[in-house]
This record gives sequence, structure tokens and C-alpha cells, in this order.
Amino acid sequence: MNFEIKYKDAMGRIGILKTPHGNVKTPALMPVIHPGKQTIDVKKYGADIVITNSYIIYKNEELKKKALEEGIHNLINFDGPIVTDSGSFQLSVYGDIDVTNKEIIEFQEKIGTDIGTSLDIPTPPYVKRERAEKELEITLERAKEALDARENLMLNSVVQGSTFPNLRAKCAEAIGQMDFEVYPIGAVVPLLENYKYKDVVDIVMASVANLPPSRPRHLMGAGHPMVFALAVAMGCDLFDSAAYILYAQDDRLMMPNGTYKLQDLSEMPCSCEVCTKYTPNDLRSMKKEQRMKLIAQHNLHVSFAEIRKIRQAIIDGSLLELVEQRCRAHPYLLDALRNLKNYTELMEEYDPEYKNSAFFYSGPESLDRPEIFRHLNRLSRLPQKNRVLLLPSFKKPYSKNIQNILTNFGRDEPDLERLGNFYKIKNLKTENNLDIDEPLQATVVDVPFGVIPLEIDEIYPLAQNESPSLLDEDSKKFVKNIINEYINNFNEVIISESLIKRFDLDFQLENFNIDELRLQFDDKEKIKYIADYQFSTGAGEALFGTDVSIVKSRKTGKIRHVYDGEDLIATLRASDGIFVLSMLGAKRLHEFLEYPKSRVVVNSDSEPFAREGKSIFAKFVIDIDINIRANEEVLIVNENDDLLAFGKSILNAHEIKDLKTGQAVKTRKGGK
Ligand code: GUN
Ligand code: ZN
Repeated sequence: MNFEIKYKDAMGRIGILKTPHGNVKTPALMPVIHPGKQTIDVKKYGADIVITNSYIIYKNEELKKKALEEGIHNLINFDGPIVTDSGSFQLSVYGDIDVTNKEIIEFQEKIGTDIGTSLDIPTPPYVKRERAEKELEITLERAKEALDARENLMLNSVVQGSTFPNLRAKCAEAIGQMDFEVYPIGAVVPLLENYKYKDVVDIVMASVANLPPSRPRHLMGAGHPMVFALAVAMGCDLFDSAAYILYAQDDRLMMPNGTYKLQDLSEMPCSCEVCTKYTPNDLRSMKKEQRMKLIAQHNLHVSFAEIRKIRQAIIDGSLLELVEQRCRAHPYLLDALRNLKNYTELMEEYDPEYKNSAFFYSGPESLDRPEIFRHLNRLSRLPQKNRVLLLPSFKKPYSKNIQNILTNFGRDEPDLERLGNFYKIKNLKTENNLDIDEPLQATVVDVPFGVIPLEIDEIYPLAQNESPSLLDEDSKKFVKNIINEYINNFNEVIISESLIKRFDLDFQLENFNIDELRLQFDDKEKIKYIADYQFSTGAGEALFGTDVSIVKSRKTGKIRHVYDGEDLIATLRASDGIFVLSMLGAKRLHEFLEYPKSRVVVNSDSEPFAREGKSIFAKFVIDIDINIRANEEVLIVNENDDLLAFGKSILNAHEIKDLKTGQAVKTRKGGK
């Protein structure tokens, strides 16, 4: 196994790709090196890995001889990992090449390439299905043949299938089951050149969804920094750029938000060495060769800076915010962003549960983010009550601010005015008048998470988010729909006037005297709600159903620990409001949750290490609850479902199942 995943956000990952010439941190950009005429030392500008074309070398007697005698690293004067392409691109441009698949594989191995490529057929977009199918068959044949032809060479196998997502899926699944080291996604260059980013989303998602999560993916020919963030968020790890030099030849300067023509510039666009040293006039007055080199330097600088920014965003958990910013650079990128909503469910599986940064709403597209989808799904884990009280959003955390007001009904509280009158919604599923003491769910209604029962309002990201106070129409409609869904769970709905106005709600209403309500805020209820939401319906009762005591922070007044007598059950983490278990808590949860829920099953070899509290490596995991997400509290068990330890998943279940290297679970404590 040559790939390890270190950090995740959305479907993006920071990984380590291991090659014979060293390790590369991904996402990575591979500058394209022309084997005959390279004049720029790309290593100086940040390249850790490069890509060149073995067919160009193969076709040129002089280059071929040198490559065979001295190796490709000497030929192109680069001592790091080198990827080579096979001539497929020439095939797609010229329609014909004179080398066979087997020959080019063997040649790449002979010249000492780190990662070679088979001779796939880059079927263009929008062709007839028959052609795409026929060419795909050849691509798959050649993939198999490449595996037989190689000895130790690491290999790319390219996903093809034109603009047919189901052919892309079929191809990805087929080659994904074979033992390739890297999975490029091919034949997207014509789409990128024509700004068909929306179609690129369909192709990449169909491919990634069916590729093994344990291998890196290379979006072939995507060299403009405008698309890097989007592609990474969809699960792409590698990019190649011939664009840095091709754009420079045309006097075009790349930026993450578009391209500038030198002829239009009166100011240089960035703060790189070139942009700070020269003015546009300086560049314009230079000889073509010198100007081109300088612009290429700028283009490389900007491209690598964007890759670094993306890696930081993954660690921060703000990748989707970056994608939303970048996709506002061009209307067709916005199309691509909007198309992502068709893949929210898939993205949610890979998106970590808890992140280091707050959720920022940047526009209606944010409403389709996986965090919101997940929250609305998880609401169904909460126990049913008879009535709900819907409240407008106050400052976060809502409960702290609302609690005072609501427990003081009937008194003169200035903030009560903000709530306005209260009404009961008519015509719900039952019309019976409930007893005023019936259990009630106080719920805040807000953008972007819709409805937030006050018991769970401190769980990430329900408290860790920001959105504008002036609502857009999409948000109003979105929340309206959620309210309509949500209130079906209750026999009686009480709603504040302020909320009706804020979201233009048009229910049939009858007056309701809020003074009759006496709200109780019960910490013992609250901790059960949190556990249900975090783990599963009933987990709260299983963990905290005994006579527990709650310890609060003296400084913040927030719940910190839950004990049974002297024994700690769980700690509520201040940063994200979720429970971290103790061994007692883990035991109770293990007893309650049926196998395989929340389980990571390890083999007998690693059982002693797990019991010692050592972290769990992916290769020791023999079974797993397929619903486990990254950054979730999990139970570590052996084959007999004996509880060995508990900890936090670093990856999701699909990744843990598929990966053979790296950590899967950070163990918190072992059972000895
Ligand atoms: N470079 C750009 N697109 C492609 C492709 O589809 N296949 C190969 N092998 N190289 C490419
Ligand atoms: Zn610059």
C-alpha cells in the first residue's frame, strides 16, 4: 500500500503517497516537464513530484537513448518522484500513435519511472454511447494487460467513459478491483477548456464513488488553480499542470479566481517574487522568452500557493467554505457548486463529524452542505414528545439566552417582547387539546440548520455556525419546508409571532396564552438527548438512566462530567459539545447497542495492543459498522464482540475497510 490518509474534510483528504523516490504530501500539483525543452527548475518553485510524457521520450532517439542509459531522473534532472503518461493524450489529439500498450509499459519500467500509465483511450465528451462503450472495453483490456506487463512499476489506471456517469462508474469499479496504485480520471481536458465544470462534477463524482478510497486520484489535465479546491472536495488528490507554461506562452497570468491577460494589466495581480519585482510594463517590454519564464514562475507560485491553502483548509475543516468562495469566480463554476447538491448524501459519508472551524453560510448553496443533511437525518434519533414550542433564534448558544426568558414567563422580561404573541397551529394530525403539563420540546428555528431542539444546541456545528441576519428567499423556503416536516412529529405546535414574520409562515393559527406554560430545563433530560443524537435512539437512557450526578464548570456553568456515584461515565467536551466516554460509559454503550453498531472489530493479533490503549491500525480491522464516520466515538471489540477499548475514528468505515496502512482509530483507553 502506497497511500495513507492523514486528515479529511468533505471528500477531500491530506495524504501521503509513497514512491521509490520519496513520499509526497497530497493534494499535490505535478508540473508537466517537457523532456526535451524544459528550462524552468520547477523544484525551486515548490514541486515535490512532476509528470512527463514517456511517449515523447520513446519517439525521440536521443532522449530514448539517454533515458535507457541514465534513467529518467537524470534525463529530466529531477531527483524526486516522476510520473509518466503513456501517449494516450497524443492518441486523443492525433488519432494514432506507434507504440503498443505493452511496449510503453515496459519502456516506462526500464527508464525508472516512479508511476507509469497504461495506454488508455481518452474518449471525448458527448460522443455516442456505443463509441464510449467500445473504447472503454479497450481501456479495460489494456489495464489488465498493464498489470501483467509490469514488474515493480507503480501504475496509473485511468477512468474513462466520456460524459456517461454510469460508464465512468462501471470503469471505476472494474479498475478499482484491480491492483493499481493511482487512479486518474481522464478525458476531462475538453470539458475544462470549455468551462463545462458542471459535467466535470458528474464525472468525478461517478468515478470517485466507485474507486477504492484507499488510493489517490489524479484529475488529469486540471491545471488551473480555479478548480483545485472543488476537485479536492470531490476526492481528487493529484493535479498536473502544463497550464503554467502554456498560459505563460500566451502572456496569461493565472490566479485562483481567474486568468489575467498581461495586455490588460496595469497592476501585477499577486505578491509573488515576479509580481513584486516587475510592473506589467516591465514584462511587456521584455523579450518573449524572458517574459514567458517570469509569467510561468508566477503561475507556478500561484498554483502551489493554492494547493497549500487547500491543505490548510482541510486541517481547519473549512474546505467547503473555500470551495464556495472559489466557485463564485465564474458562473459556470457556480453551476458546478450547485450541481454538488446531487451528491450531498455521498459526501456526508466522508465528511468528518466534528471539525476545527465553524460552519459559515456563504449563500443558498451552503444549504446543501453535508453537515445540514446529517443534522436533519439525526433529528429522528431524538425521542418523540407531544408538543413543540418553536422559537426564533437568539444569540448562540440559544439555550443559555432563551432559558432565562422562558423560565420567567409571566414576569416582566423585556426580551419577551421580541417573541411577540404566541399561537397554536391549527389542523395538525390530531386536534385533541393536550394537558398543559404534557412534555414539550422547545426548539429554535434558524438558518442554516432549520430546527434545533434546545437540548442539543451546543453540539457541533449547531452552535458553531454563522449566517447573515438578513435572510434570502432560498433560506426562508428551506426552513419553511423543514418546519412543515418537523411539526408532523407533534400533536401540538406552539409558535412565536416573531418566527411567523421572519419566515413568512402561513399557518392557520389560534391564540395561545404562553403564560400557562411552565418550562422545565432539566440537565438530566439534556444529557440523554445529546447521547441519543450523538449515538442512537435510547443511548441516553442506557448511559445515563441510573442515578447520575452532573458536574458543571464553575467558570462557564456548562455541563462537564456525568458520574454514577464516584465513577465517571462521560465528559462533555467543551469545544464541540459531544460526549467522550469513560470505560464505564463505553461498557454501557456496548451493552446497549446491538452488534455491529459503533463497533470497530480488530483481529486477535492486535487485541493486546487495543487493551493497552494503543491506537488501531487499519490493517488490523476485520469488520466495522459501515455507518461510522470520521471523528466519531467508537467501540473497539474482538471477534466475539468483547469490548477491548474505545476511541475516536480517524477515517470513515469505507476507508478503514479499504486501507492497509495508517491509523484507523485513536484509542482513548483500553480495557486491559
Ligand atoms: N492527459 C489528459 N487526459 C488524459 C487521459 O484521459 N489519459 C491519459 N493517459 N492522459 C491524459
Ligand atoms: Zn505573481
